[in-house]
Amino acid sequence: MKHLLKILDLSGEEILDILNLADQLKYEKKNGIPHRRLEGKSLGMIFQKSSTRTRISFEAGMFQLGGQALYLNATDMQIKRGEPVEDTARVLSRYIDGIMIRTFDQAEVEALAQYGDIPVINGLTDFSHPCQVLADLMTVREYKGSLEGLKMCYIGDGNNMANSLIVGGLKTGMDVSIACPKGYEPDQEVMDFAKTYSNFALVRDPKEAAANADVIFTDVWASMGQEGEQEERRAAFEGIYQINKELMAVARPDCMVQHCLPAHRGEEITADVFEAHADEIFEEAENRLHAQKAVMVMLME
Ligand code: CP
Ligand code: NVA
Repeated sequence: MKHLLKILDLSGEEILDILNLADQLKYEKKNGIPHRRLEGKSLGMIFQKSSTRTRISFEAGMFQLGGQALYLNATDMQIKRGEPVEDTARVLSRYIDGIMIRTFDQAEVEALAQYGDIPVINGLTDFSHPCQVLADLMTVREYKGSLEGLKMCYIGDGNNMANSLIVGGLKTGMDVSIACPKGYEPDQEVMDFAKTYSNFALVRDPKEAAANADVIFTDVWASMGQEGEQEERRAAFEGIYQINKELMAVARPDCMVQHCLPAHRGEEITADVFEAHADEIFEEAENRLHAQKAVMVMLME
């Protein structure tokens, strides 16, 4: 593994290797065992979109590993004034040891990896959110013991989270069912991959997707960059594509709920279900830290 650009690039075995190291680093952190495995190394973090979890967990994680994280707001970089990403990649490769980037276009992340000669980590694009899904799989495994044979359900927009969860779930041996409105399906590349699995289903009815689920995921109806589509999206999702008590009733009694956050209570999830599953959801947020530390150690040590 040279980069983390999208979950599609990883094998099931590579995903489990990352989760195993993440578990170990979490144990070391909780028990005060030093793990300064990236002493003297720098990670540049380029942000074209807002962030709470990604920025802070990478920054704190790099510090805990003995290294340094540089927050690079794209607005303040020459990238915003048109300097090609190919040149930015070659320049940064001469100063620092790794790049994390959050942007719109997946192609920009791929170009950064192609032209630079340091590891690149995707901190979210419109297509993919691999760091989040590693933390999600880590959390489900922590609660359930293993992933193989569990049923993962996703309700809502076929966005970066849906794309990444489908691939991550299938690659680790889970059954995956997704319910989304017509016109809001996951990307074609992900659908082509998923169609090769007989344990994948895309349906319109959330209850059908959630039947006997071990874990139900959702995400916002309008992602960053889609603010202008909010009303039209609301009309497509409202009243149907929501995790609520009625939906939970068709899942397994011990079904988990996961949300990458930020959550919009009353839209994709009701406040009561969110609060009933808050421990799992905030463990998931915590696991961003441990999963990303594992990724950085694997790519940059
Ligand atoms: N889940 C997630 O990536 O959160 P942020 O947008 O706050 O980084
Ligand atoms: N789908 C959301 C995820 C945020 C972490 C977005 O892209 O805005």
